Amino acid sequence: MKKHVVLLAAAVLALSALAAFAATDALVGACIYKFDDTFMTGVRNAMKTQMDKEGGELEIVDSQNRQPTQNDQVDAYISKGANALIVNPVDRTAAQPLMEKAKAEGLPIVFVNREPYEEVMKAYDKIWYVGAKAEESGTQSGQIIVDYFKKNPKADKNGDGKIQYIMIRGEQGHQDATLRTEYSLKAIKDGGFEVVELGNDTANWDKVQATDKMKGFISAVGVDNIEAVLANNDDMALGAIEALKAEGYNMGDPAKYVPVVGVDATAPALEAMSKGELLGTVLNDADNQGFAAVKVAVVAADDKPVTEESIGYKITDGKYIWIPYRPVTVENYKEFMK
Ligand code: BGC
Repeated sequence: MKKHVVLLAAAVLALSALAAFAATDALVGACIYKFDDTFMTGVRNAMKTQMDKEGGELEIVDSQNRQPTQNDQVDAYISKGANALIVNPVDRTAAQPLMEKAKAEGLPIVFVNREPYEEVMKAYDKIWYVGAKAEESGTQSGQIIVDYFKKNPKADKNGDGKIQYIMIRGEQGHQDATLRTEYSLKAIKDGGFEVVELGNDTANWDKVQATDKMKGFISAVGVDNIEAVLANNDDMALGAIEALKAEGYNMGDPAKYVPVVGVDATAPALEAMSKGELLGTVLNDADNQGFAAVKVAVVAADDKPVTEESIGYKITDGKYIWIPYRPVTVENYKEFMK
């Protein structure tokens, strides 16, 4: 009899240990603003990797850069019984109705990469944001230019003590476009340089659009007068480099070189750094943003408290998971190659 009790107790213990480690069976529905975005493809892949570890089901759909499509996709996830949502909004100002849809169902919702306004974040207790502080990336990319000009006084080609630059911005209204533009220039000025803007336009995060814009700037101001190019992301930095290469620049001749900086540290950007075409970039940590978003979604879907212990990431104000940026230069870029 006693033996049976002991066996039973052992079985109960074993079962509860299993339950503690049990994989989730949550269904998480994710919407990405568009699949054809280099950085978000990295986040998307990281989300899949994390869900493979968690054991739940992750569905990811392409919102094709259309907010109404995304709204319908969220409705579809709700009707099929998703336990949590991950949304990379097409338009960050359209996060409110999505939050309200989730709230009406008591469903956890995790926004990524495009930050909803504060009032939206405050209006629901099961809302989180996973992203990175855009100011930080702006400051770090500006600092790369400062360091370069301090080390290479001849980079001031006309010797006027000022940096003649071109700014290529991301999508209008995106917090990363606004803040990277502002903080990269601020860092250059804080670093002791005056700046002169030769051109400033949006290329919507897109490489081809950036090549076109850069070609326009080159014909307007002359390639020799451009002392630096600041792009809000790597795809646009690489687009600008294409235009420079068409003029024989950034192809190895030190007399024909314009320092270009981007943000993201995508694989093609690291490759361009290895060839000396791109001066520097800033790691926008797609892996950790994707991992953290899935962690939060799964923990919340399983109705467990979202804490630093349960997700393994620092949480600010109970709702924000900020993944740090890191400067990437010729000295350390190899660390980031996969
Ligand atoms: C990235 C861009 C990307 C954008 C999409 C930014 O954080 O730096 O490369 O296109 O997010 O929203």
